[in-house]
Amino acid sequence: MDTKEKLKVLNKKRPELTISAAKKAASTNIEWYHVLSELIDNAILVDKSKCVNVTINMHYNEDNEKSYIEVIDDSIGIPEKDILNIFDYGQSANQGKMLLCKMGMGLKGAIWGLGEFDYLITKTSNGNKCQAQPMKYDSDSDILEYIQVKPSSFELDAQLSGTIVKIKRVNDKLPNWTNQSHFDAFVFKINSMYANLLHESRVKIHISYSNSSGSKWYKECIGSFPLMSNPRHLLNNDISIGFNEPTYIKDTTTPIDKIEIKTKHTKVKLTAWHKPTPNQVEKYFDTSKNKVYNPQTYKDSLFGYGSETGGITIMYRGKYIEFGVEKHASRTENQGIILEMDDDSGLSFTGYKNTLQKNNNYREMLEAVDSFLKENGFFVRSIVGTPSVEEDEIVKKFLEYIQTDSIYLESLGIESYQKQVETWIRTEVGETDIIVRDYNDPEIVTCVIEAKKDRCGGYEAAQLWGYMAYHNCKRGILLSGADEQPSFNVMIKSLKDFCNLPEVEIKKMNVKTLKAGKFFNI
Ligand SMILES: Nc1ncnc2c1ncn2[C@@H]1O[C@H](COP(=O)(O)OP(=O)(O)O)[C@@H](O)[C@H]1O
Ligand SMILES: [Mg+2]
Repeated sequence: MDTKEKLKVLNKKRPELTISAAKKAASTNIEWYHVLSELIDNAILVDKSKCVNVTINMHYNEDNEKSYIEVIDDSIGIPEKDILNIFDYGQSANQGKMLLCKMGMGLKGAIWGLGEFDYLITKTSNGNKCQAQPMKYDSDSDILEYIQVKPSSFELDAQLSGTIVKIKRVNDKLPNWTNQSHFDAFVFKINSMYANLLHESRVKIHISYSNSSGSKWYKECIGSFPLMSNPRHLLNNDISIGFNEPTYIKDTTTPIDKIEIKTKHTKVKLTAWHKPTPNQVEKYFDTSKNKVYNPQTYKDSLFGYGSETGGITIMYRGKYIEFGVEKHASRTENQGIILEMDDDSGLSFTGYKNTLQKNNNYREMLEAVDSFLKENGFFVRSIVGTPSVEEDEIVKKFLEYIQTDSIYLESLGIESYQKQVETWIRTEVGETDIIVRDYNDPEIVTCVIEAKKDRCGGYEAAQLWGYMAYHNCKRGILLSGADEQPSFNVMIKSLKDFCNLPEVEIKKMNVKTLKAGKFFNI
């Protein structure tokens, strides 16, 4: 039997919402400024050439009746025909024009989640100014109804188009800040969420705050862009600072810059980089005077060095929606990771755009990102200030490097690279990284080379000495990403004296002596 026939509609009703239900629907445990940010989102345009101004005025008053938050923008406004439709859940107006309008929840969440909706006034460039507000209600158990009324004030008269949303009785959410540092911390949060969009001049955000005890602050938001240091492409050898670009994929010169990570159900774009240390930035700034390396700006930056700013940052259409995701031990203070998602990413938002549902797709995606980064040596730990690359990479790059340099080939006595050079030789005493054999008598080893990622001390010297002894070779090179410690030379001297072998020759080469800028840039 056809189920449609069986279903006989006897009566119909569309759900109604009481004021208290609207408030409940808007309540979440996400931070209030994330909810507020939905109103900033609403003004930003798809059109990249347009920069919208958003002004947030906040007033905290001991008397809740006088407290408010208002958000004013000079975006395109809402057409009069839609002024009441925008209060429907899941509805969108201005189809295709707004960058961050999506689920039809944000506005409703903000006007009932931050306090109580006072009014919305809006104006399009060729339409009338119009105003919407809730129908007067006496108690929270009244049914919520929106009405359009004649605009009663001069607000928006000075601009061509735009929207004002005013929310009253906000004392439950808006803090009573007594110190400018509280206000500054709030501005920093907004700076962070919109760092990219502010940087690209898609939006300008002005924030003012006042309270009934007389405090008054104002600030304009500033955008920022991560400062990077590519460990495989050094900019300044002496301080081991890399070019300001994402880290390369291992064994290539392709930066991990919007690499697509795909799993069965998800896809995201990944950007990953290593951060310079504050010390490197300071030193480089001293010599270059390049503003990009301003140490203070770097210190205050959203992507500055340190574990507080670590973990994955999730971005949706230029807005940073989550920070510090999956912050665990393997992500050190010098690693920056951004995942960019779009509507077809297979990931789902919660009611607000600021949090993702932590479902199976989400976990699948995080795992894929983690293993991609692992495979590409991104999580290699290294001593502060040395390049985060693995030993085998140092070995490979060294071999490539000497082959293109006749002076190196000659100094190592190499006539036939194929015949004489061998790598990762397993022996009873361990694995030797590189040995060079005599051209005429391959039984004779003429040089032993040991690579160390970020150490060059007495222990490393002794290990190299051991390999040299095993291969019966009096010439060795310790290849390291780091400078030598005094113990390195003391150990060599002690061994020479003890074994009575003054003729042994051990050289230290680090990424710097090999002109690493070129060294790691194939
Ligand atoms: N400041 C604004 N400027 C222009 N349009 C707006 C503005 N605020 C809201 N709108 C319109 O109202 C609709 C509903 O907003 P909202 O409830 O935040 O849902 P969403 O943004 O997810 O669509 C949006 O689709 C947008 O078209
Ligand atoms: Mg919205």
